[in-house]
Amino acid sequence: MKEHGSADAQEVVVEADRPLALLIDPPLTPELRQDLVRMWVAVTNAGGAVGFLPPITQGQVEPVATALFERLAGGMDHLVIARDGDVLVGWVILERNTEPIVAHWAWVKRLQVDPRRQNRGVGRALMGAVHALARHQLGLEQLYLIARSNAGLDTFYAGLGYREVGRMPRNLRVAVGDERDEIYMVLEPL
Ligand SMILES: CC(C)(COP(=O)(O)OP(=O)(O)OC[C@H]1O[C@@H](n2cnc3c(N)ncnc32)[C@H](O)[C@@H]1OP(=O)(O)O)[C@@H](O)C(=O)NCCC(=O)NCCS
Repeated sequence: MKEHGSADAQEVVVEADRPLALLIDPPLTPELRQDLVRMWVAVTNAGGAVGFLPPITQGQVEPVATALFERLAGGMDHLVIARDGDVLVGWVILERNTEPIVAHWAWVKRLQVDPRRQNRGVGRALMGAVHALARHQLGLEQLYLIARSNAGLDTFYAGLGYREVGRMPRNLRVAVGDERDEIYMVLEPL
């Protein structure tokens, strides 16, 4: 298995509102780690559905981010980032399964785009890179993800070919009296 960030980080230029660099498994430098955490905080505090409730601080995100970085360093999971020049504008995780019975599919997690850069095609471009990685390099057959309801996310993912396969009703309490569903979605064939 390839050491994370060691060899073939790929650069792909895509058309968003301007060309972006999409990198698969870039080296996890201290600067990149800090940028990933900073964006996670900014996206959460702008109302994004990436695992936390706002308001959140960097200190609250860091332990979760550290665990994520450790998994990446282990080489099973993959990180895809979008950069505009040197500036991180979005990222997403492909989380693989270790058990053989579920090794033919993976989870897409933590997709997020800088709030100042949303709705310009960055999210779609990141997902395109994840799909190509999963299909062509990893030979996966399905991708699953969980989307929070009432945020337009199921519409966003449906536009990328995902379909709903189930829900956990009202299992996310984003505020008292504001409970959302977790929507399970799958992309197959990949
Ligand atoms: C969800 C998110 C990743 C989408 O990325 P983005 O760069 O803003 O989206 P794109 O510009 O690539 O949008 C692609 C298409 O999806 C649509 N879309 C994007 N976000 C949408 C939303 N919340 N509701 C409905 N449609 C949406 C766009 O209008 C566009 O449609 P079009 O192709 O018909 O023009 C981004 O908005 C984000 O970071 N949100 C906060 C974090 C979050 O909630 N992540 C979800 C984790 S499950």
